[in-house]
Amino acid sequence: MKNIIVGQSGGPTAVINSSVAGVYKKAKELGVERVYGMVYGIEGFLNENIIDLDDYLNNDENYELLKRTPSAFLGSCRYKLPKIEDNKEVYEKIFEILDKYEIDALFYIGGNDSMDTIKMLSDYAKENNKKQVFMGVPKTIDNDLPITDHCPGYGSSAKYIATSLKEVIRDNASFGVVKPTVCIVEIMGRHAGWLAAAAALAKDDTCEGVDAIYLPESKFDLDEFVASVEELAKTKHSIVIAVSEGVKTSDGKFVCELSNEHIAVDAFGHKQLSGCGQTLANIVATRTGLKTRAIEYSTLQRAATHIASLTDINEAEMVGMKAVEEANNGKTGMMVIITRDDSNGYTSSADTYDIHDIANVEKKIPLEWIDEENKQMKEEFIKYAKPLIQGELAPIFKDGLPVHLIRK
Ligand code: F6P
Repeated sequence: MKNIIVGQSGGPTAVINSSVAGVYKKAKELGVERVYGMVYGIEGFLNENIIDLDDYLNNDENYELLKRTPSAFLGSCRYKLPKIEDNKEVYEKIFEILDKYEIDALFYIGGNDSMDTIKMLSDYAKENNKKQVFMGVPKTIDNDLPITDHCPGYGSSAKYIATSLKEVIRDNASFGVVKPTVCIVEIMGRHAGWLAAAAALAKDDTCEGVDAIYLPESKFDLDEFVASVEELAKTKHSIVIAVSEGVKTSDGKFVCELSNEHIAVDAFGHKQLSGCGQTLANIVATRTGLKTRAIEYSTLQRAATHIASLTDINEAEMVGMKAVEEANNGKTGMMVIITRDDSNGYTSSADTYDIHDIANVEKKIPLEWIDEENKQMKEEFIKYAKPLIQGELAPIFKDGLPVHLIRK
């Protein structure tokens, strides 16, 4: 491979930049001349918004900083490629730019929607005898890509959620016996509850854990929810509940739509889910008179690189490296997947899988991992998620604050 290009797409994660680092590292090992980065994903690429990563990563210090930098270093987008038959010009433009920069391989770090981009581009290349290869590099805090055991980005968000919940649970419990306080914590994850389930990880020897977890995979009934909070309030003065942003009422409406009918929709038709926790806190306060508080973790849970999981950072780097290695072997139209080996402690390895079986498919939590009655996650989930939050990589501090690598 002479030159290659890497892009980031969709919602960022705490470790999405470690995959860029992995792509760069392996490419340089293989003697690739130029490693380009597309600024703002494929949308920026179409405007030839391209940088040379040698300008940033040519020393070990910056490489280490990149791994400690939150958000998408290259910039991201939520851009849906048109169907080939509807707009061939877009594809012609992409291949014109690839040829101009003598790019042999394109790597796209993203989730379900971004894998659709890799599918479309690799299909177009095959149909039109183009030489370039296309590889997907998985990332999403939602952990909902199929085939792969888990997705880079998930472990770090899960670690942030469990850590901050331990702190929230302590805080909520600090006020005495006068009147119970109900704290409702809203967690991202759209249609899959993997991330909200991570609330279960807060429970340990020094923390009693959350009182209930509500996932999009389970039925949600508003009256039952209020009744169960009232029931808890009979015996507890501190109640902390985790809810997924994607919980829906029985008529199929997202809970956040109960208080906001004008929800924005992105290019892939996804509604911007926000406000479910506050909506529920208001309903509980109105119907029960209990003191309530809502916390929406929002972008904090995907930007918290300061408490990222080292396992996650290493795996994000590993999948970036694997993508380049396999592209160099001539593979195309694939996504890197992670395989777990639990036989002797936790280890993982990377492999590749046909993108057609992955793009646009969402993997949900197995229903048998949910204890519907007690509204908690079963041991199977804890066993699955615990290894993914292990280890830390200390930030590099300057003047009391973590230093990040930013584009000029
Ligand atoms: O896809 C990742 C994700 O963080 C989801 O969990 C969340 O629903 C969505 O992105 C939020 O998107 P945006 O940042 O565009 O509002």
